[in-house]
Amino acid sequence: MNLKNKVVIITGASRGLGRKLAFDLAKKKAKLVLFSRNQKDLIEVKRIIVKKYKGKVITVDGDISDFHDVKRLFLKCMKEYEKIDILICNAGVNYKKPFYELEEAEWNSIFNTNVKGVFLCTKENNKHMKKGKIVIISSVAGWFGAKNYAAYCASKHAIEGYAKGMKKDLKNKIKINIFHPYRLNTDFHKNYSIKSPMAHKIKPKLYSEYIISVLEGKYISASMIFIRNWAIRLSQILFSKKT
Ligand SMILES: NC(=O)c1ccc[n+]([C@@H]2O[C@H](COP(=O)([O-])OP(=O)(O)OC[C@H]3O[C@@H](n4cnc5c(N)ncnc54)[C@H](OP(=O)(O)O)[C@@H]3O)[C@@H](O)[C@H]2O)c1
Repeated sequence: MNLKNKVVIITGASRGLGRKLAFDLAKKKAKLVLFSRNQKDLIEVKRIIVKKYKGKVITVDGDISDFHDVKRLFLKCMKEYEKIDILICNAGVNYKKPFYELEEAEWNSIFNTNVKGVFLCTKENNKHMKKGKIVIISSVAGWFGAKNYAAYCASKHAIEGYAKGMKKDLKNKIKINIFHPYRLNTDFHKNYSIKSPMAHKIKPKLYSEYIISVLEGKYISASMIFIRNWAIRLSQILFSKKT
């Protein structure tokens, strides 16, 4: 898929992986719709894209778990570009602690963002996308269990099941790509009371490159990037001090 002039919605575009994807897709001349709660950060991402890449970009601030905000996101996209080619469901949150210390509000926040947010976006997307791709950012936590991540693992396992079911409901014209990052060097971990080893995190840039190669259908290059990312991580795990 040539990404030039493709209309791409990115949720969670104000920071981390979503922000990096926005820059990299702007470089490829995609037309962007950026969504997250923090309007100030979104406008800053837009400012950089317009200045550096002369890209077309609109921003919509809202909460991914709020039906009205999600509806507004898709209406604004359709009003501006009259189509959607790629939806990237990236927004996500976590609280790193054992399940018995997790507050009910934290559980709700994890599930409302990571699971309900994906449901609302894909449901709304279905009204507008004729042909295209849905990208879901899961995690290795969608495959395995991990200490201090029980609710997060449950939420990512839930979207794995949701994506499998969705594939059966969707016509072949819409393809689903689900990704499973391991630790990325983003603000995601910032509020953790139990710190994760910094040395084991790769730059979001390296993961964004992988996603974009897959979107472009450059599977050989994507496989090379995948192997490179794990090689970097393995060397970090083997040779870096755990901080
Ligand atoms: N970082 C990792 O190590 C890692 C590993 C595996 C998988 N992942 C997954 O990768 C994705 C991106 O994570 P990241 O590392 O880039 O995290 P991040 O830097 O914390 O960014 C998260 C993004 O999601 C947005 N967001 C959070 N809650 C939202 C809500 N209720 N409504 C709308 N937007 C919301 C945030 O924007 P606002 O705060 O402005 O709303 C922000 O733009 C997540 O799905 C995460 O689960 C991350």
